[in-house]
Amino acid sequence: MKDILEELESRRSVARLGGGARRIEAQHARGKLTARERIELLLDRGTFEEYDTFVQHRCVDFGMADQKVPGDGVVTGWGTVNGRKVFVFAKDFTVFGGSLSEEHARKITKIQDMALKTRAPIIGLFDAGGARIQEGVAALGGYGEVFKRNVVASGVIPQISLIMGPCAGGDVYSPAMTDFIFMVRDTSYMFVTGPEVVKTVTNETVTSEELGGAKVHTSKSSVADGSYENDVEMLLETRRLIDFLPSNNQEGAPEWPSFDDPGRYDESLDTLVPDNPNKPYDIKELILKVVDEGDFFEIQAAYARNMVTGFGRIEGRTVGFVANQPMVLAGVLDSDASRKAARFVRFCDAFEIPIVTFVDVPGFLPGTAQEYGGLIKHGAKLLFAYSQATVPLVTVITRKAFGGAYDVMASKHVGADVNYAWPTAQIAVMGAKGAVEIIFRADMGDPDKIAAQTKNYEERFLSPFVAAERGYVDEVIMPHSTRRRLARALAMLRTKKLEQPSRKHDNMPL
Ligand code: HXC
Repeated sequence: MKDILEELESRRSVARLGGGARRIEAQHARGKLTARERIELLLDRGTFEEYDTFVQHRCVDFGMADQKVPGDGVVTGWGTVNGRKVFVFAKDFTVFGGSLSEEHARKITKIQDMALKTRAPIIGLFDAGGARIQEGVAALGGYGEVFKRNVVASGVIPQISLIMGPCAGGDVYSPAMTDFIFMVRDTSYMFVTGPEVVKTVTNETVTSEELGGAKVHTSKSSVADGSYENDVEMLLETRRLIDFLPSNNQEGAPEWPSFDDPGRYDESLDTLVPDNPNKPYDIKELILKVVDEGDFFEIQAAYARNMVTGFGRIEGRTVGFVANQPMVLAGVLDSDASRKAARFVRFCDAFEIPIVTFVDVPGFLPGTAQEYGGLIKHGAKLLFAYSQATVPLVTVITRKAFGGAYDVMASKHVGADVNYAWPTAQIAVMGAKGAVEIIFRADMGDPDKIAAQTKNYEERFLSPFVAAERGYVDEVIMPHSTRRRLARALAMLRTKKLEQPSRKHDNMPL
C-alpha cells in the first residue's frame, strides 16, 4: 500500500513540474508566474481542487508519441474566492507553449460544464501559443467545443479571461466571448494573426506590443476591460472583481457587510457642479462619494473616457454605475462611449445588478467621422440596452441632458424607475445658444434680440423644472443627499418585477 501511495505522490510531483525546471525558470525570468502559482494567488489558500492532473495528449504525429507531459498544458479545477466557489483553468506555457490539443480542450470543456451545471463563475488564465500545431484539425475541433460552451454560459454565469502571456490564433475567441478580459502590461498580447503573418499579408511591420499589447486593447480596440502591472496585481484585482459579481444570473449580487451609513450626506457635492456650465468637473468624484467606503471597480477606464462604467456598492449590495464624464469631450455621447456603456448595461441586466446612471451629456458628437463610423447604430445599442433592461434603474441628472442623449441616458421614457435631477440640471433639446440660432435665424443680425432670447431660453428650459412639471423627473434633489436618495430608491426597487414579452431573442443593432 505504501508503495502505491508513494507512486501517486511521485506522479503528482512530476505533473506539478509541468514542462520542467528549466522552462519554469524561463517563465520567471520573463516576469511571469507559472499556471499553478497563479491559481494559488487567485484562490483562497488551500482551496484548489485540481482535476485531470494526469491527462495526456493522444497525438502520435511529428514525434509527439514520446513527448507526453501529464496535464497537457492546462491546469484545471475549482476553489473559492473569499469563500465563494469559482472554476478555473490556467494555460501552462511551460508545456508545449500552453498550446491547445484535443485533450487540453477536453479538460477545459469539463470545467466549463461543471461551472455551468453548478452555476458558478469561470476564470480562464491565458498564456499560450494557440492551436497545438502537431494536432491539426483535432485542436481546431477542441476550440470549437470551448467556444460553443462560452456562448451557452453567456448571461448565465460570469466568465472572466485573464491574458497573462501570448494569446493568439484560436486562443483569442474564447476570451472575446466572455464578460471581461484583463491583460498584464508588457508581458501579454492578443491578436488573431501575429506580426510575421501581418508582414507577409499586408507588408506592415509591427511588434507584438504594437499589434496587440495591453495599451492597444484597453485604449484603442476596447477588446480588453483593463490592464495591470504584473501577474500578482491582476490576480488580486480579479479577486476584488469577483466580490462584486453574482455567482450566476439567479442568485443576485453578493451582500457584504458595510459600515458606511446609507443616509450619509456629503455637503461637498453641493458645489461639485461649477457655476459656469461649460466648465468640466470629475464625475468620478460623485461616484466615489456615493458608494460604500469609496470602493469603485472601474471597467474600461482607459477607453472612451467620456463615459465611466464600473461597479460599486450601496448598503453592501453591488450596483453598476454608468456616468457621462464632463472632463473628457464634455461628456459627449459618441460611438465608442455608447458601445462601452451598452455592453456594461447588458452585463448588469443579465446578472440582476441594479444600475445607477449619472447624466451630464451635451448630446451626440456631430461630424463625418462619427456618422461614417455608425454613430446611429452604436448610439442605438445603448438606447436598446437601457430600454430592454428589467433591473432597477435609478438616474440622476447632475447638469446637461440635451437632445436624444437625454432620452438614451436612462430617461423615464425608456424605462428608468426613479429619475432625480439636481437643481443644476438643464434638460432641453439643446443648449440655449444653438437653440436660439435656429429659432431666431432671421434675427441673427440683431445681437440685443439674440442675447435677450438666449436668456429667455435659458430661463425657460435650462433648469430641471420643466421636466419636473411633467413628471419626467420624479424629484429635484439636493446634491448632498444623493447617496441617501439612491439607497432608498434601490431598497424600494428590490422587489421590482418586470418581464419582457416572450420571443426567441431580440434583434439588437449589432
Ligand atoms: C505546439 C508550440 C506552439 C504551438 C509554442 N509551442 N506554440 N507547440 N503548438 N502552437 C512550443 C514551442 O515549440 C516551444 O517548445 C515552446 O512552446 C515555447 O515556445 P517558444 O517559441 O520557444 O516561445 P516564445 O519565443 O516565447 O514564443 C511564443 C509564441 C511562439 C509567440 C507563442 O511559440 C509562437 O509563435 N507559436 C506559434 C503560434 C501559432 O502560430 N499558433 C497557431 C495559431 S493558429 P520547446 O520544446 O522548444 O520549448 C490557431 C488556429 C486556431 O490557433 C483557430 C481556431 C478558430
